Amino acid sequence: MCRGVCGFKLLKCEAIYTINQPKRQTLSPYPNTDLQGAVSMSVSIKTPDEIAKMRVAGRLAADVLTMLAPYIRAGITTNEINDISHHYITEVQHAVAAPLSYHGFPKSICTSVNHQVCHGIPSDKVLKNGDVLNVDITIIKDGFHGDTSMMFFIGEPSVMAKRLATVAYEAMLLGIRAVRPGAFLGDIGYAIQSYVESQRFTIVREYCGHGIGRGFHEEPQVLHYGNPGAGLQLTPGMIFTIEPMVNAGKRFVKLLPDGWTVVTKDHALSAQWEHTILVTDDGYEVLTLRPGESI
Ligand code: MF3
Ligand code: CO
Ligand code: CO
Repeated sequence: MCRGVCGFKLLKCEAIYTINQPKRQTLSPYPNTDLQGAVSMSVSIKTPDEIAKMRVAGRLAADVLTMLAPYIRAGITTNEINDISHHYITEVQHAVAAPLSYHGFPKSICTSVNHQVCHGIPSDKVLKNGDVLNVDITIIKDGFHGDTSMMFFIGEPSVMAKRLATVAYEAMLLGIRAVRPGAFLGDIGYAIQSYVESQRFTIVREYCGHGIGRGFHEEPQVLHYGNPGAGLQLTPGMIFTIEPMVNAGKRFVKLLPDGWTVVTKDHALSAQWEHTILVTDDGYEVLTLRPGESI
């Protein structure tokens, strides 16, 4: 469902978003035209000062996930995870929880359990052994956003859940490793889609990664499927997320009546990981790396 803003990673929104947005004097590099390049886009190149602030925001978002890990056990509710996160972000990090009130979103984080694909609303639902959970954290510090998400297992996951989460993580890695100046957004999408489908899983198409900075969801849209050489060409100083959603069943999704929670149409499991990525002079820098994580 289109809300008339593209912050929701909904492709259908692109036209409306583009028409309503004032053009920024930045870049218009569209060597190839396809879905990502056909509509006029303006992708900002961050200055060194903005990049420094994005590094801080990214680290803080990652720190929330690290902080949460010991709490995520059978018996906790997703509301409790929300409240712990909110307290940490506001009182310890002196930052802002970006989702809260974002186009009316009612909570500070997104928690998506089992067949929920993304944008799950924390609730009094108690997590039980065997559940798989995505926690998606976005914080604002000094005016800049950091956005990252990861999967957690409650107790011992099924073989399928473990494999799905691993494939989703590997897919994100392959997407990240396709990032370098001169590469195309289509290279990222192709790396992700071809790997996921080779593993007999499916990639969600209705939601995508996004540029990020002072805005939560900036241009460009970063599709998790596509063709090599297609779409926008990457330039140092661009910052965007890569956040593939991988389904164990069919790729189709539906939106619940709460207006936010996205679930798989066939109720099969879904998994997602997300990092915020800077295009550097010779490749990429992951701004939301957690301690001990290397990409
Ligand atoms: N963090 C999500 C993303 O990766 C967006 C959540 S929007 C919200 O883009 F309103 F649902 F919080
Ligand atoms: Co995101
Ligand atoms: Co996110």
